[in-house]
Amino acid sequence: MTHMLNNANNEQNKIQNELKADDRFAEERPKFHFASPCGWINDPNGFSVFKNEIHLFAQYHPYSTHWGPMHWAHATSKDFILWNIQDVALAPDTDVDNGGCFSGTSFEKDGKHIIAYTGVHEEDGKTVQEQCIAIGDGKTYTKFCENPVITYKNIPFEYQRSDFRDPKIWAEGDKYFLAAVLKKKNNLGALVLFESKDLHEWNYVGLVDESRDGLSGMWECPDIFKLDGKDVIILSPQEMKEDEKLGFHNGNNSVYMTGSLDLTSAKFVREIRSENSYTAAQIDYGIDFYAPQTTVASDGRRIMIAWMQSWESYITPRKYLWSGMMTIPREINLPNGKLYQNPVKEIENYRDKNFSGIIESSAKKQVISGLCLRQFDAEFVLSVPQNEEGKFILNIAESKDYSATIVYDAKTKKLTFDRSRTIDGGGNTKSRSMKVLPNSDGKIKLRILCDTCSAEVFVNDGEYAFTNAFFIPLESKTFSVVNTLSGNILYNAYSFAF
Ligand code: FRU
Repeated sequence: MTHMLNNANNEQNKIQNELKADDRFAEERPKFHFASPCGWINDPNGFSVFKNEIHLFAQYHPYSTHWGPMHWAHATSKDFILWNIQDVALAPDTDVDNGGCFSGTSFEKDGKHIIAYTGVHEEDGKTVQEQCIAIGDGKTYTKFCENPVITYKNIPFEYQRSDFRDPKIWAEGDKYFLAAVLKKKNNLGALVLFESKDLHEWNYVGLVDESRDGLSGMWECPDIFKLDGKDVIILSPQEMKEDEKLGFHNGNNSVYMTGSLDLTSAKFVREIRSENSYTAAQIDYGIDFYAPQTTVASDGRRIMIAWMQSWESYITPRKYLWSGMMTIPREINLPNGKLYQNPVKEIENYRDKNFSGIIESSAKKQVISGLCLRQFDAEFVLSVPQNEEGKFILNIAESKDYSATIVYDAKTKKLTFDRSRTIDGGGNTKSRSMKVLPNSDGKIKLRILCDTCSAEVFVNDGEYAFTNAFFIPLESKTFSVVNTLSGNILYNAYSFAF
């Protein structure tokens, strides 16, 4: 083990022990979401199944709760819900990655766990990003000594060498493929494809797609896979402009496109989406969802996970020893070409008590005592006939000074998350709204998965997702609602046993 890996592991063990030794610290962590073992995490990396175990890596800076020289954290799970923290997988300890081991992906081949990541370093005083490979056994990972395996020499046009990263690697037929994002000279983001017979020698195949029609400048963290007969590309574009109709917000977004990808020419033909007459769609409309990537579970389900935080709004409380968590892994499907996402079914194995009932229409605040908890899985069915003008307001983790509030306003047809009454006023981004139309039967279903410091909302059986994090002291846990819609609301909820 290198000196840097050793130091990172020592730091991780030290903080893990501190977190475990203090009940308060332990209670503040999410119970069924992967959270940073210590220090800072961002993007999920290398999400894969290897030897029947689920592996998740993450961008990691163990030494502080802020971004710094990137390592790869590592955890394994049997069921996507409970995670065992493993030794740190990669440290920025070679000449090609001494500026950081940036994001990447992994897959299993012939009993080996193959990782592709971006090595960052300086050349002539300028940052350079290049693609590297490491191979492991599920515990320790060895970097290729000839890294980087893909550099500017592989690409037949000029681009900005400081922005070439986030490889997605996979095997198909008798070849390996690797797709990475880069910034062209004209500042447009692009996705490029390479192929190899042996993981060592890589040839440029072509340009898959590039940023156009409002999909901003640089793209980050691509994923490419087949689902329900279509080729799907996931991207996280930076610096997007707000577009209310399409549900994009200013800054970093994560979008998907469907179409067909020809691996011999690299060309991707984007489909025009029927739901928005555009070639891309938002994946999750909340504040805290970025850099999603997917894997295939042993039973064939395609599962997606994302970083449940945002670059724009840092909300980790000052005294915390960790910053950053991942979303609940979500099963994704494409009925009629539209992405549906729902929490993996394994979460249901941890449900405990069931609370169901009716929230009557009333202007008065009502406390739902069964849900005065910081972890629950609750579904609410709203009737929203035409011309309805009322609201449904849910206050999670409420007390005199705090609450995380979700409001559905039938007049504006907007669902809003508001965290202005949370620690430090909820950071730079205090609230976000999304448009939600009732189903053809006039109903809206809201499933809310709450885990200590996050509320992920799945609307209409996974048609839309709305993910938001919040930090509120643990003592604050009343769950109250106000239902000024004309009809009653049915709810069915579960607490959890962890
Ligand atoms: C996305 C990202 C990636 C990069 C990583 C660095 O959140 O900017 O493009 O590889 O984070 O930590």
